[in-house]
Amino acid sequence: MAQAGPEGSAVSLVRVEKLCKTYTLGKQQVDALRDVSLTINAGEFLAIAGPSGSGKTTLLNLIGCIDTPTSGELVIGEDSVAGRTPDDLAELRLRTMGFIFQTFNLLPVLSAAENIEYPLLQMKELSRSERRKRVDEYLEVVGLERFRHHRPNELSGGQRQRVAIARALATHPRIILADEPTANLDHKTGGSILALMKDLNRTRGMTFIFSTHDPSVMDMADWVVEVNDGILTEHGIFKTWDVREHLASLEKAFDDLLSQAFTEMPRPEAERKREEIRRRTTRTAAPAADWADQTLMR
Ligand SMILES: Nc1ncnc2c1ncn2[C@@H]1O[C@H](COP(=O)(O)OP(=O)(O)OP(=O)(O)O)[C@@H](O)[C@H]1O
Ligand SMILES: [Mg+2]
Repeated sequence: MAQAGPEGSAVSLVRVEKLCKTYTLGKQQVDALRDVSLTINAGEFLAIAGPSGSGKTTLLNLIGCIDTPTSGELVIGEDSVAGRTPDDLAELRLRTMGFIFQTFNLLPVLSAAENIEYPLLQMKELSRSERRKRVDEYLEVVGLERFRHHRPNELSGGQRQRVAIARALATHPRIILADEPTANLDHKTGGSILALMKDLNRTRGMTFIFSTHDPSVMDMADWVVEVNDGILTEHGIFKTWDVREHLASLEKAFDDLLSQAFTEMPRPEAERKREEIRRRTTRTAAPAADWADQTLMR
């Protein structure tokens, strides 16, 4: 899903180079991330998987410039983040990133609409009416127009997370970082939140980087990397639906070939031949979709 660059190459949006993060707690040191390298292209829908304590939040916080690495380099777009002042970083975050958190992090005294408007207040170039227009637009994107005046405690968990998504999107960031966005939601609501994120990724080309330990959430990602004990252990799981699509197109090509191959024969004979070839090929190979499921589903 990477966007093509000028020479047809993918556009790198986040580049992480040998990133390390060590936390010091009293005399104890915790290596939360060790030598993590990763390039994330524009348009990606990436899941960071891994057990509790493996370093997912640490990695997201570093990419989001909320925290600073102990060593290594982080490049956002073309620019290295190293040596930036806190004000510069705040500006970079405001202009480039949208954040979605496990616990939604909405301001309890503000309505849904005011929560979405809140980060826009820092964008001085936006007039009041432009701000209102954006709020309306993103309330509609997440399907909450009717709930604009509700405060967070007057909304369900799924609705709160929708407000948080609208708030993250309203500043038009290039990257959305989401730390376990579905962990506090039931399975069905979590699924609809993920579906909304994926739709925004597909239709608006937004880049999503989200962490999860839920296998059904990982399954919706285009690309999954895994962190284990601070080490990035797995890259680029080949997703089942890609294989399925590919196999389906091969099957169709095979069928077309079969159809063409026997055009000279009398029809009943051609049918018999086609059937025989189909029987032989399905005896040796499982149907494509089953094969993809059995071989690639984890
Ligand atoms: N501020 C901190 N001070 C000290 N240690 C920390 C701090 N934040 C995280 N750690 C440690 O770093 C390691 C990675 O933590 P992190 O929060 O990134 O894990 P995680 O994969 O997000 O876990 P979870 O799935 O439970 O959210 C853990 O061992 C944790 O205890
Ligand atoms: Mg975490």
